Amino acid sequence: MGTGFGIDIGGTGIKGAPVDLAQGVLAGERVRIPTPQPATVPAVLDTVVAVVEQAGWDGPLGCTFPGIVRHGVVGSAANVDHSWIGTDLAAELSGRLGHPVTVLNDADAAGIAEMRFGAGRGVAGVVLIATLGTGIGTALFVDGKLVPNTEFGHLEIDGYDAEKRAASSVKTNEGLSYKAWSTRLQRYFSHVEALLSPDLIIVGGGISKKAEKFLPRLELQAPIVPAQLLNQSGIVGAAVSAMG
Ligand code: BGC
Repeated sequence: MGTGFGIDIGGTGIKGAPVDLAQGVLAGERVRIPTPQPATVPAVLDTVVAVVEQAGWDGPLGCTFPGIVRHGVVGSAANVDHSWIGTDLAAELSGRLGHPVTVLNDADAAGIAEMRFGAGRGVAGVVLIATLGTGIGTALFVDGKLVPNTEFGHLEIDGYDAEKRAASSVKTNEGLSYKAWSTRLQRYFSHVEALLSPDLIIVGGGISKKAEKFLPRLELQAPIVPAQLLNQSGIVGAAVSAMG
């Protein structure tokens, strides 16, 4: 299976590393460059190229983006510069790097990694991965197959865009306790569960490291478990999707 390379474009950092495709772990040092502000298209493209060059990677790769990505083209930009909408990120990057580049939604990448190497390994039926960070990203799998670009972070619940109430950035910005935030998560996941009847819910994002502080408070029909790859899942999932 060999080694692939994954890039994760996030709101604060652009990270890249070689990935051991058999084990789902990083196969070398991770390079991180802060996301340029404002995160305009040319500035981010330059930064991605710099990450690849610093890592010394010369081959096909996968890259995440925090919005809808259809056939390489960005379709939404909830938490990034709106000039991204309509950009053919796959074509721009492969043109600059001289190799094929596969681009996919960040939560979809995290989901692919969890299904192959983490909490979703071997799980059949309907599995929902939700990443709690600046926003809420979701990835939906049916018998291991991804339904790409689900945007269940933007469900309207009680008159709010759901991620504006329940993302982990909201916990930080509003100074919510785990208990208070869990009430919001309960509302969110109950609603999602009523719509999708998942067999398993996997919760990712940096805050999943503290899962014991909030997951035990949630009462749902499906088991709800923390992601296992933590903050490497975007890089791993991007590399996997590029190389199979
Ligand atoms: C975006 C999703 C993304 C999620 C996490 C949401 O605001 O609409 O596409 O997966 O944030 O970054």
